Amino acid sequence: MRQNRMLWLLDALERDPSRDKVIDALVGGVRALPLGRARDALHGTWLGHPVHPLMVQVPIGTWMSAAVLDLRPGPSRGAGLLVGVGLLAAGPAALTGAVDWAELRRRQTRVGLVHAVANATAVGLYGASLALRLSGRAGAGRTCGFLGLTAVGLGGMLGGHMAYRQASGANHAEEVPHVVREGWHRIGTVDEFPVGEPVRRTVDDVPVLVVREIGGSIHALAERCSHLAGPLSEGTVADGCVRCPWHGSVFRLSDGWNVRGPATAPQPAFDSRVVAGHVEISLRGEGQTAEEHGTGEPATATGRGEHDGHGD
Ligand code: FES
Repeated sequence: MRQNRMLWLLDALERDPSRDKVIDALVGGVRALPLGRARDALHGTWLGHPVHPLMVQVPIGTWMSAAVLDLRPGPSRGAGLLVGVGLLAAGPAALTGAVDWAELRRRQTRVGLVHAVANATAVGLYGASLALRLSGRAGAGRTCGFLGLTAVGLGGMLGGHMAYRQASGANHAEEVPHVVREGWHRIGTVDEFPVGEPVRRTVDDVPVLVVREIGGSIHALAERCSHLAGPLSEGTVADGCVRCPWHGSVFRLSDGWNVRGPATAPQPAFDSRVVAGHVEISLRGEGQTAEEHGTGEPATATGRGEHDGHGD
């Protein structure tokens, strides 16, 4: 199949391992930053999607506006002010991007490194632009500004490739409610789910994580992690939560809530019941509690929640 040159270059960048050692060192550095719970806030767990695309609005917007003012003849104090505001906003925007980047797949980090270099080049050029304007060399400052905007454009194009082609910040569990049919789905007999062990089942071609807890409660969540589709059935179950084996996102088993990032979206959750010794699950509506879904507490393998027949 014939591929356009730009796409070919981007795909070649994804496949190029020559900077992997640098990437590993930088990833280690970003992960070692003492950010504590602020790291989750920087990912955007409070927002439901990554914060980084919001944060870049200020530098991009101010620098674009400065370029418009710079198109007019003569020095522009307004353009200098906008360049300065953009520089102030670039630091926090870069930090949100860096913490997201450090939890991506290899190919995504390769593109992300070039994205970061392009944006760092832009910051350098805009810093020079501001210094030149302040020293009275408005023409040179304007030239640096236009070069900076070019670098920002390249960085933005690579960011778009990461977001849309590589699905870097997307919710990887979003399709689950659209694929799983309404109603109860039988997934096995109770004794197929050993207590405390994550088990993988499939419903309408969607992988599902099933965990039977001590006491008999049976929980079911979409199995592919909302962050980057990591296999939660290979994760660790503890304290009523499952921890993703890939980047450590933690989801509450009872409702799929993303207790810890980098995942910014919760896992779709299922209600469960036991019918004649068989476990059945039904997808819970978005934002719906088990009570609102009409099934009350999770099924237990000890009798509570057991039905005599099919409820759908
Ligand atoms: S895939 Fe990244 S935390 Fe699960």
